[in-house]
Amino acid sequence: MMPSEIAVYGLGVMGRNIALNMADHGLRVAVYNRTSSITEDFVGELPTDSRITAHYSLEDLAAGLSSPRIIFLMTKAGGVVDRVVEGLLPHLDSGDIVIDAGNSHFRDSQRRWEDWRQRGIRFLGVGVSGGEEGARHGPSIMPGGDPEAWPVVRDILQRIAARTEDGASCCQWVGQGAAGHYVKMIHNGIEYGDMQLITEAWQLMRDGLGMPAAEIAATFAHWNQGVLASYLIEITAEILTVTEHDGSLRVNHILDTAGQKGTGRWTAIDALELGVPLTLIGEAVFARALSSMKAERVAAAAQLGSAKVTPASKRVIELDAIRDALYAAKIISYAQGFLQLREAAAEYDWQLAYGEIATLWRAGCIIRSRFLNDIRDAFERDPGLPSLLFDDFFASALRSAEPGWRSAVTLGVQSGIPLPAMGAALSFFDGYRSAVLPAGLLQAQRDYFGAHTYQRTDRDPEQRWHTRWTGDLSEEAIDD
Ligand code: 6PG
Repeated sequence: MMPSEIAVYGLGVMGRNIALNMADHGLRVAVYNRTSSITEDFVGELPTDSRITAHYSLEDLAAGLSSPRIIFLMTKAGGVVDRVVEGLLPHLDSGDIVIDAGNSHFRDSQRRWEDWRQRGIRFLGVGVSGGEEGARHGPSIMPGGDPEAWPVVRDILQRIAARTEDGASCCQWVGQGAAGHYVKMIHNGIEYGDMQLITEAWQLMRDGLGMPAAEIAATFAHWNQGVLASYLIEITAEILTVTEHDGSLRVNHILDTAGQKGTGRWTAIDALELGVPLTLIGEAVFARALSSMKAERVAAAAQLGSAKVTPASKRVIELDAIRDALYAAKIISYAQGFLQLREAAAEYDWQLAYGEIATLWRAGCIIRSRFLNDIRDAFERDPGLPSLLFDDFFASALRSAEPGWRSAVTLGVQSGIPLPAMGAALSFFDGYRSAVLPAGLLQAQRDYFGAHTYQRTDRDPEQRWHTRWTGDLSEEAIDD
């Protein structure tokens, strides 16, 4: 029997689907799962001429692979990845390739790349996005890790990855070390932001404007034909049409406590580490945390009175205003996400191709959208673009959307509708283009209680000063 070209280790739904995707693309695939019955059940459903071969021991798995071996791990993130590779190592040869395709934390991937390189194993930390459907029919794939391993696996990964309408592969080399998992983390942070913004638009229409459910669903479906066209808007329009037997919306029966496996949180934590004002995604993470405080929110509503007021009798703002708010805040969120990629590239010594990353996300992944073409175009116009907000297309889009955006946020404020993402984005927009902010007062406060010193706008910026705020108010030059 011909050796298999790649092994899939881990036959959860994602692992099974990726193995089927590989076989569909002509690859001979070895499969293994720690629980043998799962392997048996999976291969038991396959046609007899399937290219997929089951293995029930690591030794047998390794023996059934061509050299260099390529092992595609579809396991949970965390320590299990290390334990699985420790189990594989005795059966691998120098130069073999281990691909971690789970949602691993980028610091774990950096460590694994460095450690396993010492042990002769070429490591790839690969972000895979698109859920079960994506794994089966074409995910977005964000490979990083050992640059020497990429040419060996490129053909396989690009065969199974999604492609854009114009045929571009949604699998391109991202960068060495943890770059692939970092870009996947940013993808997930942006996903949190997109999802939060959509829920805020939904509540503005439902509670701010008192719109009937069917009209709200139709509005999202209409928006999905324009600049907001995206997978998340598409599924939202679909979800908002699903009713119960009594005609009520199913979504209104779903408990309003958002889960989170952690990738959005990791994004916000690293933004804080890097000093990136990732305000929208940060607020999206906090909004999930607040939603999880259900019992406390119910008690607070009784104690403090519910936030929500009844919608105005007439349509106080146009639907376009909510669309503009959604679109403008989305621009801010992606601008912040790419700002973090820029800072991370500098901090972790990666050379990231931002236009190409936007193309990776153009199809197959959860944040796939028409909007990403505009981002790709912006970085093609200027690869050194400091921020999407300095691109004329996006600057013009924001200027056009601003009036509607402000009126939508105002409606939220006046109606007691929380808009943590839309509101944070508007504050970022106003702050980012403020040549002068009130931070001078903050510096004076820090100097008052902690003698932390300050610079002056009317003197040499290199010179720091301290005022004797509780003494004679004299000011002295402070040299480090
Ligand atoms: C993807 C998704 C996926 C994510 C799940 C759950 O790109 O396919 O982002 O990786 O893990 O959607 O994520 P949360 O539990 O953090 O919402």
